[in-house]
Amino acid sequence: MRRKLVVANRKMNGSLSSNKAFLEGLLIGTQDFPNADYSVCMPHPYLFQAEAILKNSPITWGGQNMSRYESGAYTGSVSPGMIKEFGCEYVIIGHSERRQRGHDTDHAIGERFEVAIKAGLKPIFCMGETLEEYEDGITDVVTIRQLNAVIEEIGVKGLAGGVLAYEPVWAIGTGKAASPEHAQNILSFLRGHIELLDADIAENIRILYGGSVKADNAAKLFSMPDIDGGLVGGASLNTDEFVAICQAASNVYES
Ligand code: PGA
Repeated sequence: MRRKLVVANRKMNGSLSSNKAFLEGLLIGTQDFPNADYSVCMPHPYLFQAEAILKNSPITWGGQNMSRYESGAYTGSVSPGMIKEFGCEYVIIGHSERRQRGHDTDHAIGERFEVAIKAGLKPIFCMGETLEEYEDGITDVVTIRQLNAVIEEIGVKGLAGGVLAYEPVWAIGTGKAASPEHAQNILSFLRGHIELLDADIAENIRILYGGSVKADNAAKLFSMPDIDGGLVGGASLNTDEFVAICQAASNVYES
């Protein structure tokens, strides 16, 4: 059975002191919720701090993006090896804020998935449609195109080393989460697509939902059979709210 995974995407937020309060609060706050996995994706300069505070705890940490190159003349970029050196378990790739502003192509993100795995990291691969694409009713076309770009690069078995996240762009940071039914439909569709290629991978891969996950909608979202947890932006900036989301993930198994 797939365990739920809740990942904080802290984006470009935080400071040494506020991170310390958040990470220590999370360690204490999640102690009573051992039935799910938790991870925190920090801005790169703070990875050393996440490692210092979270090492030897059940909570893992990760980066929010990475270069697809190992080293070289790429001013401002961070390599997978560098992220791994700070003990990261995960790295987010293909987030819509990177696709749109960083001009990442489907192909480049597919390459990054492979590079992350080679570096010993678990990529959290994001896909999702824009509002216009949603209104045009082409969510399935868009997400499959994005997923297939990764599968073409690494083969379906390569997915096993990572995590998928469905994040409709119109739900990110807007306060308007997808309905649990819509998210379930898309995740079940994506899992079904993988199943046609490899039933084992489809059964075991974790697919998260992201986009305005909050304490008050998490339990309903996580109760859906194909939603294996959440990628949480805004609500991860408040320790109590994020802990409540972790609690919802852990408690799913009790209901
Ligand atoms: P949000 O962000 O929870 O603030 O909508 C999610 C994300 O961008 O991963």
